[in-house]
Amino acid sequence: MTITWHPGSWNDCPAGQQPSWPEADFYNETLHELGTKPPLVFAGEARRLTSHLGRVANGEAFVLQAGDCAESFDLSSADAIRDKLKVILQMAVVLQYSAGLPVVKIGRIAGQFAKPRSSGTETRDGATLPSFRGHIVNDINFEESSRKPDPNRLLQAYNTSAATLNLLRAFTRGGYADLRQVHEWNQEFVASSPAGKRYEILATGIEKALNFMTACGFDTDDAAMRQVELYTSHEALLLGYEQALTRQDSITGDWYDCSAHMLWIGERTRELDGAHVEFLRGVHNPIGSKIGPSTSPGDALDLCNALNPDKVPGRLTLISRMGAGKVGEHLPAILEAVSAAGHPVVWQCDPMHGNTYATESGIKTRDFDVIMTEVREYFEIHRATGTWPGGVHCELTGDTVTECVGGSDALAADQLGERYETMCDPRLNGRQSLDLAFGVAELLSGFR
Ligand code: PEP
Ligand code: CO
Repeated sequence: MTITWHPGSWNDCPAGQQPSWPEADFYNETLHELGTKPPLVFAGEARRLTSHLGRVANGEAFVLQAGDCAESFDLSSADAIRDKLKVILQMAVVLQYSAGLPVVKIGRIAGQFAKPRSSGTETRDGATLPSFRGHIVNDINFEESSRKPDPNRLLQAYNTSAATLNLLRAFTRGGYADLRQVHEWNQEFVASSPAGKRYEILATGIEKALNFMTACGFDTDDAAMRQVELYTSHEALLLGYEQALTRQDSITGDWYDCSAHMLWIGERTRELDGAHVEFLRGVHNPIGSKIGPSTSPGDALDLCNALNPDKVPGRLTLISRMGAGKVGEHLPAILEAVSAAGHPVVWQCDPMHGNTYATESGIKTRDFDVIMTEVREYFEIHRATGTWPGGVHCELTGDTVTECVGGSDALAADQLGERYETMCDPRLNGRQSLDLAFGVAELLSGFR
């Protein structure tokens, strides 16, 4: 890493997973236009998230990072955003109430539009077209015109992110996320499930506690009761887009990628000498990197040294996505090497991406029990090494979809076709998400 960092220094490094934009001039003009747009988030907010994550790194808080695998331009309606927010708020309340710890909430939302693909092309019935790379690049329909990367989509991604973020800010600051609304977050579909009923009991407990505090004269009108801090995140995949939204903070002079509060590097683009590591090492947002089963302890340590050389707590999250049955083999040596080097990492478990498989009829799915198994293994390993299992990272939606099997409803493989809507990976539905929250809460409350 001998190059001097600047927002475009990644251009001198090999960049994986970038689309081949057909019209270079149009693409460059679009990036230029994006560069003139207002930032979506502010440096001060990103700094505040780093400090919250610093508490997670110190074992004083837990982080819940959740949302779509790939957001859609077409499904960013107010209802869809509200329902996703509801399920995240519910999960956070379950974790916070059970574990008695602050829960830092980060959505995979308002910008999660770009997807890495295992192949650049897709072949169906003898026809080969560019792969779908997320709505920021092309459309999912298997047609030549839809699959052609379109730079207009970069602007549409910015505009959709801005509109989503605007609504999220209104919901989280404008009273909707008020703790006194805790019952209101239990949507009908979720409320009627076993976890939903369990949640009702918990919500009633919170309500009673708030009434008691009000009766004692405490101010339950305080902002901490009325508002929620929900931060945004996405995989920093399309580096042209990320660079265009990178701005120098007028207070500190530091550079921030203002497309989201937190950005992460995916499993497929975490090479030490690659463009993604080069770009993210220079922005001051809190950042993450996925670490899959091919990560050696040396690789993890190299990432820490490259991305957080000053060892700032909360700056770097390592997101373990080993797959159930593989955590014990790969994670302990990584935890030991990173801890021994004194790196204050936020450890997070993504129990989704190592556990995707296709059913006999070829539908991509995940099994709730297997997801829970990876989380359980993750907690056990952290207990054994004396490290803090700081958080979970999952793909979910508030909707009634049928994309993952299992959960307290025991959703079966032959039900997957009923409402399978994801554009990329299978997501937990609202009920399964709450099941997961209760499962994690139990592990968390038994951890200390
Ligand atoms: C993702 O988080 O959607 C993703 C592609 O994950 P990974 O980089 O771990 O494969
Ligand atoms: Co995914």
